[in-house]
Amino acid sequence: MIPVLTIDGPSGAGKGTVSRAIAKRLGWHYLDSGSIYRALGIACLQQNVDPKNIKTVIKVAQTIKLAFDCTDELKVALNGLDITAKLATEKTAGIASAIAVIPEVRAVLLQKQKDFQQLPGLVADGRDMGTVVFITANHKVYLTASVKIRARRRYKQLIEKGIDANLSQIIQEIQARDKRDTERVTAPLIVAKNALYLDSSDLSITQVIEKILNFIH
Ligand code: DC
Repeated sequence: MIPVLTIDGPSGAGKGTVSRAIAKRLGWHYLDSGSIYRALGIACLQQNVDPKNIKTVIKVAQTIKLAFDCTDELKVALNGLDITAKLATEKTAGIASAIAVIPEVRAVLLQKQKDFQQLPGLVADGRDMGTVVFITANHKVYLTASVKIRARRRYKQLIEKGIDANLSQIIQEIQARDKRDTERVTAPLIVAKNALYLDSSDLSITQVIEKILNFIH
């Protein structure tokens, strides 16, 4: 069985940074499942598809071609075109969260995520990695932090990337996404059974990484 470490949690908890670092340390593959929902969101924006138009969103999900390059920084191509620069915006995050409530969309994207389970192992980050996609994973982590801290981190990330940002707006957007991600009927964000629960509000990235590595060893 190919080993899997799942790291689930809300937006801005530090899952991406932590998962990438752990994958590098272990020499394992890395799945940023949020980027798949984000890429589908970008495809819908490009094709002027309203997220409420469920049938069309499902069709777009069935037809998009995604390619991932995780060698260094994550790069994503949608239908052959690089969309990496568009992935991190709040607009993309909002539409990703909106289409992620559609059960048929989740079903279509399931195999794309499962395909990442390759030797020697996988670190998978998202909302339902330990509860749905890799339910038999060897190690499961739930990583969270207070809304204010997560918003401040997201703000810093966006500013560093040269993307315009407003802190109080980010707090509101994160709260709206948290609500949608935790209250949706299919694959809501919940703590997986036997998961290590980590609140990173008062921890550095290095401390979080060490705690997870200790847990899996
Ligand atoms: O992790 P992220 O912020 O890139 O995810 C963006 C949105 O995608 C998130 O608000 C909900 C959706 N998502 C999901 O439903 N399931 C996942 N495994 C990952 C992301």
